[in-house]
Amino acid sequence: MESKLIDLRSDTVTRPSPGMRRAMAEAKVGDDVYGEDPTVNELEELCAEVTGKESALFVPSGSMANLIAQMIYVRRGDEVIIGAGSHCYRYEVGAGAAIAGAQYVVIEGNGTFTAQDVQDRIRTATFHRPGTALVWIENTHNFGGGIIFPFDEIKRISNVCKERGIPMHMDGARIFNAVVATGIEIKKWCQFFDSLSFCFSKGLGAPVGSILCGTRGMKEEGKRFRKMLGGGMRQAGILAAAAIYALKNNIERLAEDHANAKYLAENLSDVKQVKIDMKTVQTNIVMADLEGINADTFVKEIAKEGVLVNAISSKRVRFVTHLDVSKDDISQACAIIRKVLH
Ligand SMILES: Cc1ncc(COP(=O)(O)O)c(C=O)c1O
Repeated sequence: MESKLIDLRSDTVTRPSPGMRRAMAEAKVGDDVYGEDPTVNELEELCAEVTGKESALFVPSGSMANLIAQMIYVRRGDEVIIGAGSHCYRYEVGAGAAIAGAQYVVIEGNGTFTAQDVQDRIRTATFHRPGTALVWIENTHNFGGGIIFPFDEIKRISNVCKERGIPMHMDGARIFNAVVATGIEIKKWCQFFDSLSFCFSKGLGAPVGSILCGTRGMKEEGKRFRKMLGGGMRQAGILAAAAIYALKNNIERLAEDHANAKYLAENLSDVKQVKIDMKTVQTNIVMADLEGINADTFVKEIAKEGVLVNAISSKRVRFVTHLDVSKDDISQACAIIRKVLH
């Protein structure tokens, strides 16, 4: 019998379930570039309603949602205040700088920051210096290890931004992980932001797609940028059906992913070459620092035994739990890691 790979590289590796595939097959479709796809329209209305925003725009990826948001707010050379390691700054091939013209003002640390940090960095444009166009919050924070941006701090940051007239955007690729982990409902998180995006293709288990939510005007402008970037999709209802299915069926179950991440971290806590800061294990991501073995070597060795993870640096690896891994898979992965590190 072929042995199963335990794929902990990312929550993007999930495959659509039979129920999701059925919903996709049965979706009513039309040409979404003409605004005529009933399932995309239904998804966009649902997302606007769920987040408490005026409108929502379905886009092919989280990276495109992030780029469109920056194109909306930023004039070339404007500054975007952002936490260290944020995805749009670190992992989107420099698109924000190359295409939107954003200049990032990075707040060092674990990806989260305080209202004071923002206050200290806001700049008004003059004839020789750029001004702040946007404050960007990633929640949960991927590179920070799936940590949740503290709710009360977002509130304080929002007060500063309101006072200074600076818009706020949330890269909420995994915002539902924060919702499930804290019990704070999605609308409450979204109330502080002028706009936000989230992904269907990560923990929610859909094959493709993200959503950008904001004002009606933003949707119109966003649609033009989406077309400019080649992201106008035609019979996209097939994908929107998967997203609707994900919203209806796959949110509460994120709690299982969080429990599995904790289980993995606790299980490895007595392995001396593996150091995990339990305080950062808040959702479905576990960052582990390795001692006595290079991260690339570790990744290769456990891959030979059927466990896949990503190396983040020469000593750090990332484990991500998701819909397609069970607690038994995690037990097996931990046993393999112990064997490799013996
Ligand atoms: C926080 C965050 N934002 C945005 C993205 C980009 O999403 P996509 O891979 O759909 O472009 C990712 C992808 O992992 C992410 O983790």
